[in-house]
Amino acid sequence: MLYIAPSILAADYAALGQDVRKVANADLLHVDIMDGHFVPNLSFGPDLTRAVDGVTEQFLDMHLMIEQPERWFDTYVAAGGDRLIFHVEAVRDVSAAARSAHEAGAQAGFAVKPGTPIEPYLEHVELVEEVMIMSVEPGFGGQKFMPEVLAKAEALRAHIADAGLGTIIAIDGGIAASTIAQAAAAGVESFVAGSAVFGSDDPAAAVDKLRELARAAQAGPAAR
Ligand code: DX5
Ligand code: ZN
Repeated sequence: MLYIAPSILAADYAALGQDVRKVANADLLHVDIMDGHFVPNLSFGPDLTRAVDGVTEQFLDMHLMIEQPERWFDTYVAAGGDRLIFHVEAVRDVSAAARSAHEAGAQAGFAVKPGTPIEPYLEHVELVEEVMIMSVEPGFGGQKFMPEVLAKAEALRAHIADAGLGTIIAIDGGIAASTIAQAAAAGVESFVAGSAVFGSDDPAAAVDKLRELARAAQAGPAAR
Protein backbone atom coordinates (compact mmCIF):
# COMPACT_ATOMS: atom_id res chain seq x y z
CA MET A 1 0.00 0.00 0.00
CA LEU A 2 0.95 3.61 -0.37
CA TYR A 3 -0.23 6.52 1.72
CA ILE A 4 0.44 10.23 1.33
CA ALA A 5 -0.18 12.10 4.57
CA PRO A 6 -0.09 15.91 4.40
CA SER A 7 1.00 17.48 7.67
CA ILE A 8 -1.29 20.34 8.61
CA LEU A 9 1.59 21.86 10.58
CA ALA A 10 2.48 23.55 7.29
CA ALA A 11 -1.07 24.67 6.44
CA ASP A 12 -2.41 28.22 6.65
CA TYR A 13 -4.00 28.30 10.11
CA ALA A 14 -6.14 31.31 9.23
CA ALA A 15 -7.68 29.26 6.41
CA LEU A 16 -7.29 25.78 7.84
CA GLY A 17 -10.63 24.42 6.71
CA GLN A 18 -9.92 25.46 3.14
CA ASP A 19 -6.44 23.97 3.22
CA VAL A 20 -7.76 20.66 4.57
CA ARG A 21 -10.32 20.51 1.78
CA LYS A 22 -7.61 21.16 -0.80
CA VAL A 23 -5.99 17.81 0.03
CA ALA A 24 -9.14 15.69 -0.14
CA ASN A 25 -7.18 13.41 -2.50
CA ALA A 26 -4.70 12.53 0.27
CA ASP A 27 -4.96 9.13 1.99
CA LEU A 28 -4.94 10.54 5.50
CA LEU A 29 -3.95 13.67 7.42
CA HIS A 30 -1.01 14.02 9.78
CA VAL A 31 -1.63 16.10 12.90
CA ASP A 32 1.51 17.24 14.78
CA ILE A 33 0.97 17.78 18.48
CA MET A 34 3.90 19.51 20.26
CA ASP A 35 4.05 20.46 23.92
CA GLY A 36 7.12 22.72 24.15
CA HIS A 37 8.79 20.09 26.40
CA PHE A 38 9.32 16.88 24.45
CA VAL A 39 10.19 19.14 21.52
CA PRO A 40 11.23 22.80 21.68
CA ASN A 41 8.10 24.05 19.95
CA LEU A 42 4.35 24.31 20.48
CA SER A 43 1.78 23.56 17.81
CA PHE A 44 -1.88 22.93 18.60
CA GLY A 45 -4.06 20.65 20.65
CA PRO A 46 -7.39 18.86 20.93
CA ASP A 47 -9.62 21.80 20.01
CA LEU A 48 -7.95 22.33 16.66
CA THR A 49 -7.90 18.56 16.07
CA ARG A 50 -11.68 18.51 16.62
CA ALA A 51 -12.11 21.41 14.20
CA VAL A 52 -10.14 19.57 11.52
CA ASP A 53 -12.10 16.38 12.14
CA GLY A 54 -15.25 18.41 11.63
CA VAL A 55 -14.38 19.39 8.07
CA THR A 56 -13.09 16.07 6.72
CA GLU A 57 -13.84 12.35 6.71
CA GLN A 58 -10.13 11.61 6.38
CA PHE A 59 -8.26 9.37 8.79
CA LEU A 60 -6.26 11.39 11.34
CA ASP A 61 -2.79 10.23 12.35
CA MET A 62 -1.97 11.94 15.65
CA HIS A 63 1.78 12.47 15.96
CA LEU A 64 2.17 13.06 19.68
CA MET A 65 5.46 14.88 20.29
CA ILE A 66 4.60 15.29 23.95
CA GLU A 67 5.73 14.01 27.33
CA GLN A 68 3.54 11.44 29.06
CA PRO A 69 1.52 10.88 25.87
CA GLU A 70 -0.74 8.26 27.48
CA ARG A 71 -2.36 10.96 29.62
CA TRP A 72 -3.75 12.43 26.39
CA PHE A 73 -4.91 9.34 24.51
CA ASP A 74 -8.60 9.56 25.47
CA THR A 75 -8.66 13.29 24.75
CA TYR A 76 -7.28 12.91 21.24
CA VAL A 77 -9.57 10.03 20.41
CA ALA A 78 -12.54 12.10 21.58
CA ALA A 79 -11.25 14.93 19.34
CA GLY A 80 -11.33 12.65 16.29
CA GLY A 81 -7.86 11.08 16.22
CA ASP A 82 -7.85 7.67 14.54
CA ARG A 83 -4.30 6.54 15.30
CA LEU A 84 -2.20 7.56 18.30
CA ILE A 85 1.50 7.71 17.49
CA PHE A 86 3.58 8.15 20.61
CA HIS A 87 7.37 8.52 20.77
CA VAL A 88 9.31 5.60 22.25
CA GLU A 89 11.56 8.21 23.90
CA ALA A 90 8.54 9.57 25.82
CA VAL A 91 7.16 6.36 27.32
CA ARG A 92 8.54 3.90 29.85
CA ASP A 93 6.83 0.84 28.42
CA VAL A 94 6.14 0.67 24.69
CA SER A 95 3.87 -2.36 24.86
CA ALA A 96 1.79 -0.81 27.67
CA ALA A 97 1.46 2.42 25.67
CA ALA A 98 0.35 0.48 22.57
CA ARG A 99 -2.23 -1.35 24.69
CA SER A 100 -3.51 1.94 26.12
CA ALA A 101 -3.93 3.38 22.63
CA HIS A 102 -6.02 0.37 21.63
CA GLU A 103 -8.02 0.56 24.84
CA ALA A 104 -8.72 4.21 24.04
CA GLY A 105 -10.39 3.00 20.85
CA ALA A 106 -7.70 4.00 18.35
CA GLN A 107 -5.02 2.36 16.28
CA ALA A 108 -1.53 2.56 17.78
CA GLY A 109 1.82 3.61 16.41
CA PHE A 110 5.23 4.47 17.70
CA ALA A 111 7.75 6.99 16.39
CA VAL A 112 11.53 7.05 16.71
CA LYS A 113 13.73 10.15 16.55
CA PRO A 114 16.63 10.14 14.07
CA GLY A 115 19.17 9.16 16.74
CA THR A 116 17.09 6.35 18.26
CA PRO A 117 18.00 2.86 17.04
CA ILE A 118 15.19 0.61 15.88
CA GLU A 119 16.56 -2.79 17.02
CA PRO A 120 15.41 -2.52 20.66
CA TYR A 121 11.87 -1.84 19.43
CA LEU A 122 11.51 -4.55 16.80
CA GLU A 123 9.87 -6.86 19.33
CA HIS A 124 7.07 -4.29 19.71
CA VAL A 125 6.31 -3.86 16.02
CA GLU A 126 3.68 -6.60 16.12
CA LEU A 127 1.73 -4.58 18.71
CA VAL A 128 1.16 -1.51 16.54
CA GLU A 129 -0.44 -0.62 13.22
CA GLU A 130 2.30 1.85 12.25
CA VAL A 131 5.94 2.61 12.98
CA MET A 132 7.06 6.14 12.15
CA ILE A 133 10.68 6.90 11.40
CA MET A 134 11.62 10.53 11.90
CA SER A 135 13.85 11.81 9.12
CA VAL A 136 14.36 15.20 10.82
CA GLU A 137 14.64 16.15 14.50
CA PRO A 138 11.01 16.52 15.59
CA GLY A 139 9.79 20.02 16.39
CA PHE A 140 9.76 21.97 13.16
CA GLY A 141 8.64 21.66 9.57
CA GLY A 142 10.76 22.57 6.59
CA GLN A 143 13.97 20.81 7.65
CA LYS A 144 16.39 18.83 5.52
CA PHE A 145 15.79 15.11 5.00
CA MET A 146 18.28 12.79 6.77
CA PRO A 147 18.90 9.84 4.41
CA GLU A 148 20.87 7.91 7.06
CA VAL A 149 17.61 6.96 8.81
CA LEU A 150 16.60 4.80 5.84
CA ALA A 151 18.68 1.90 7.21
CA LYS A 152 15.98 1.69 9.91
CA ALA A 153 13.28 1.39 7.26
CA GLU A 154 15.19 -1.48 5.67
CA ALA A 155 15.59 -3.24 9.03
CA LEU A 156 11.89 -2.78 9.75
CA ARG A 157 10.89 -4.00 6.29
CA ALA A 158 12.95 -7.19 6.80
CA HIS A 159 11.48 -7.77 10.27
CA ILE A 160 7.90 -7.20 9.09
CA ALA A 161 8.39 -9.62 6.18
CA ASP A 162 10.05 -12.29 8.37
CA ALA A 163 7.34 -12.06 11.02
CA GLY A 164 4.51 -11.87 8.48
CA LEU A 165 3.14 -8.60 9.93
CA GLY A 166 1.00 -5.90 8.34
CA THR A 167 2.53 -2.97 10.19
CA ILE A 168 2.85 0.18 8.09
CA ILE A 169 6.25 1.88 7.88
CA ALA A 170 5.90 5.67 7.83
CA ILE A 171 8.48 8.41 7.43
CA ASP A 172 8.20 11.99 8.65
CA GLY A 173 10.39 14.96 7.82
CA GLY A 174 11.82 16.50 4.68
CA ILE A 175 9.76 14.37 2.30
CA ALA A 176 9.50 16.07 -1.10
CA ALA A 177 9.72 15.19 -4.78
CA SER A 178 13.50 15.01 -4.42
CA THR A 179 13.53 12.57 -1.46
CA ILE A 180 10.41 10.40 -1.61
CA ALA A 181 11.79 7.84 -4.08
CA GLN A 182 14.72 6.85 -1.86
CA ALA A 183 12.37 6.39 1.09
CA ALA A 184 9.97 4.26 -0.98
CA ALA A 185 12.85 2.15 -2.28
CA ALA A 186 13.91 1.51 1.35
CA GLY A 187 10.48 0.04 2.12
CA VAL A 188 8.53 3.01 3.44
CA GLU A 189 4.86 3.04 2.44
CA SER A 190 3.39 6.03 4.28
CA PHE A 191 4.88 9.45 3.62
CA VAL A 192 4.26 12.55 5.71
CA ALA A 193 4.76 15.80 3.83
CA GLY A 194 4.20 19.27 5.24
CA SER A 195 5.97 22.01 3.32
CA ALA A 196 6.12 20.00 0.09
CA VAL A 197 2.31 19.92 0.05
CA PHE A 198 1.09 23.13 1.67
CA GLY A 199 4.03 25.17 0.41
CA SER A 200 2.93 24.34 -3.10
CA ASP A 201 0.59 26.52 -5.17
CA ASP A 202 -1.49 23.41 -5.83
CA PRO A 203 -1.47 21.11 -2.77
CA ALA A 204 -3.66 18.45 -4.44
CA ALA A 205 -1.30 18.25 -7.42
CA ALA A 206 1.65 18.00 -5.02
CA VAL A 207 -0.03 15.02 -3.30
CA ASP A 208 -0.60 13.30 -6.66
CA LYS A 209 2.97 13.94 -7.75
CA LEU A 210 4.41 12.52 -4.52
CA ARG A 211 2.21 9.44 -4.87
CA GLU A 212 3.31 8.91 -8.44
CA LEU A 213 7.01 9.18 -7.53
CA ALA A 214 6.62 6.82 -4.57
CA ARG A 215 4.68 4.29 -6.64
CA ALA A 216 7.34 4.24 -9.35
CA ALA A 217 10.09 3.75 -6.76
CA GLN A 218 8.15 0.97 -4.95
CA ALA A 219 7.72 -0.83 -8.25
CA GLY A 220 11.48 -0.93 -8.66
CA PRO A 221 14.06 0.60 -11.00
CA ALA A 222 12.51 -0.96 -14.12
CA ALA A 223 9.32 1.06 -13.66
CA ARG A 224 11.07 4.41 -13.30
C1 DX5 B 1 8.21 17.72 12.49
C2 DX5 B 1 6.86 17.16 12.20
C3 DX5 B 1 6.58 16.92 10.79
C4 DX5 B 1 6.55 18.15 9.92
C5 DX5 B 1 7.12 17.74 8.60
O1 DX5 B 1 8.41 17.64 13.85
O2 DX5 B 1 6.69 15.92 12.89
O3 DX5 B 1 5.38 16.18 10.62
O4 DX5 B 1 5.26 18.66 9.69
O5 DX5 B 1 7.30 18.88 7.85
P1 DX5 B 1 8.11 18.85 6.48
O6 DX5 B 1 7.40 17.91 5.57
O7 DX5 B 1 8.06 20.27 6.05
O8 DX5 B 1 9.50 18.37 6.80
ZN1 ZN C 1 4.92 14.77 12.38
